[in-house]
Amino acid sequence: MNNTMKKYYKIDEWSVIEEGFDPRRHEESESIFSLGNGHMGQRANFEEKYSGDTLQGTYIAGIYYPDKTRVGWWKNGYPEYFAKVANAPNWIGISVKTDNEELDLNECVVDEFRRELNMKQGYLERSFIARFKSGRQVKINARRFLSMVENEIGAIRYSVKAVNFTGTLELIPYIDGNIFNRDANYDERFWDILETGWNKDKAYLKAKIRKTGFEVCMAMDCDVKFNGTDDSFKMAPMEKQGFIGLQIKNTVNPGDEVVLYKYVSVLNSLNHKPGTLIEKGIQILNKASKKTFDGLFSEHVHHWEENWLNSDIIIKGDPAAQQGIRFNIFQLNQTYTGKDERLNIGPKGFTGEKYGGSTYWDTEAFLIPFYLSTEPTYVARNLLIYRYKHLEHAIKNAEKLGFNHGAALFPMVTMNGEECHNEWEITFEEIHRNGAIAYAIYSYINHTGETEYLAEYGLEVLIALSRFWRQRVNWSDVKGKYVILGVTGPNEYENNVNNNWYTNKMAAWTLKYTTDSIDFVMNEYPKRYQQILKKTKLQYEAEIPAWKDIFNNMYYPMLEERAVFLQQEGYMDKEQRMVTEIPREERPINQHWSWDRILRSVFIKQADVLQGILCFEHEYSTDTIRRNFDFYEPRTVHESSLSPCIHSILANRIGEAEKAYELYLRTSRLDLDDYNHEVSEGLHITSMGGTWMSVVLGFGGLRFKDGMLSLSPNLPKKWKYLSFTINFRGRIFRIGISDKETEVRLLKGDPCKVEINGNVVNCHQLKY
Ligand code: BGC
Repeated sequence: MNNTMKKYYKIDEWSVIEEGFDPRRHEESESIFSLGNGHMGQRANFEEKYSGDTLQGTYIAGIYYPDKTRVGWWKNGYPEYFAKVANAPNWIGISVKTDNEELDLNECVVDEFRRELNMKQGYLERSFIARFKSGRQVKINARRFLSMVENEIGAIRYSVKAVNFTGTLELIPYIDGNIFNRDANYDERFWDILETGWNKDKAYLKAKIRKTGFEVCMAMDCDVKFNGTDDSFKMAPMEKQGFIGLQIKNTVNPGDEVVLYKYVSVLNSLNHKPGTLIEKGIQILNKASKKTFDGLFSEHVHHWEENWLNSDIIIKGDPAAQQGIRFNIFQLNQTYTGKDERLNIGPKGFTGEKYGGSTYWDTEAFLIPFYLSTEPTYVARNLLIYRYKHLEHAIKNAEKLGFNHGAALFPMVTMNGEECHNEWEITFEEIHRNGAIAYAIYSYINHTGETEYLAEYGLEVLIALSRFWRQRVNWSDVKGKYVILGVTGPNEYENNVNNNWYTNKMAAWTLKYTTDSIDFVMNEYPKRYQQILKKTKLQYEAEIPAWKDIFNNMYYPMLEERAVFLQQEGYMDKEQRMVTEIPREERPINQHWSWDRILRSVFIKQADVLQGILCFEHEYSTDTIRRNFDFYEPRTVHESSLSPCIHSILANRIGEAEKAYELYLRTSRLDLDDYNHEVSEGLHITSMGGTWMSVVLGFGGLRFKDGMLSLSPNLPKKWKYLSFTINFRGRIFRIGISDKETEVRLLKGDPCKVEINGNVVNCHQLKY
């Protein structure tokens, strides 16, 4: 898409704005305007009834249903279930009626519709005038947010003005547990409603997930104003099967305004004892409604202001790029707050059902750098601990596939550590995920300098990963090298290939890193080392030499005549075509071609060799990187959202500024401009970490070299100024880049050295 083309959402540096209601784009907008607060998330469904196409979506972090596996031909090793974050009871609902007519934007004539996602302050606001069939008109203004401070609270301010009629106005705020997951494998219900009821004037609904037994309680409190004052409304409780609400009625004349404040607490049994959920839910609700909507809102805004201080990226001269990057950062920060090591980040976050809300390698490969650089270290650390806590499961998972002696294969997709994925070519073969988990441990330690993490947690994981690789490789007499057969690399448009360069590289690197780490922990943390020896039953004399032999003798496929790393053996047997030769109407190929045709084609779904080159960039000359980029980029269709970001960073690295910019827009505005025609299913949350990398590592040229920050910026022509903040080794740096100068300010921490364009300088508050 051309960047100058008219965008559906208005360009604004701090907001996403939709003007005019287009029902055909409603599900798309429901994704775009989603809200979350780490604890829960909510698609931008309307409060009032909507009879058109809509994907109702309320999600609570960590609350999932184990949906029975659906598969054609069962293979030994497949999991019994796929964990899916359950679509939770609808807490936002408010139905609006005037006498016999109900407000429904699919039935009414809608004027002056405006929806705004305010990213600076973290709220969603919507206003419009609706005309009923009778000609009556109401003017609505609705604002809602999910508190970042009281993360079990959501609040709505819903105002209804009678424009041109005298009659009854009825509002019914409610909680509705009659909810389904659209992606349920067998159309099963995920929830049972346990209880609905009233505690004084507060309504509650308690529900339980089938099989896993997670319980959730939602409690609601309402406050109503009539033309700014308390008035004698007629109020009546309403209860139906799985539904609880409050009917509020009054007679209105033209110009009258009714404002409803709806507060809801959302508690679950991961965080509270099941028996206390109702009582605690009411307590938390009382506390929240006492603060009032404005009070809750102002502390929420304050939280966002603080958050933006360290995470914001400023781009001057290119409002579309500015809006794009803020949208990505906003979504990342409202999806994961790092407070709970049992939680992780699904590819769609809280914005849709696809991918089940479960954890993929995306977290380690695409998100760790963002959280490491913009948040206190515990945030990224909790993502690592999540995997550490799943180590036992990963060992069992490997045993199920025939490995032994403490070898671990982490799942391709998981919620609680158990594998959920069930396509053999991915579940059993996309084993490079183990490499990303090792690399994340390395990145964490390199970034924070916290070597005790290695001793405390990291090394145990590394040993189990290395044991896996040792058993997964085999010696080839023909090649006189170790090989890894039958894998799927990051490029999922090739399955069951031999010697995927990326996988071989990750495996060998993990073995080397583990070997070095064992020696390090042995010397620096001898007491802990003894505990690890005992726990893992590590046989130093037998295992370490075997690992060394593998990493010293790993086979790496090469295309000698072009001096590039070959994605896998046999890649050059394919008909060598370029992406530009694919007719436009056949793109994306995954929506137009048979799977057979895709597998036999040369086309690459997402960065594969280039993904590896970025991880080990310091080993390669710029010429090597360029040769590989020039070879792979024209063959890559970027049909995974995780792809353009990696290519953009490397394009910058080799000085291909225009290409880097084109790829950047594709990643940063992927959802806002709906490049892949699928945003209605939810946002690409995990690729948003890649977007951040493509600005900071790409245009900023930031690297973390031997404990030192290094920058070699390269701004796109349009950008007058770029600024971002980096948390690194206990210091906070603010970097400002214009075409004339690069400024690095030390906001926190002791003076240190930084490298700018190859020159090492002292950093206090420095201009260069
Ligand atoms: C990508 C995977 C990724 C998954 C979830 C797939 O399309 O190929 O690399 O883990 O999406 O984001």
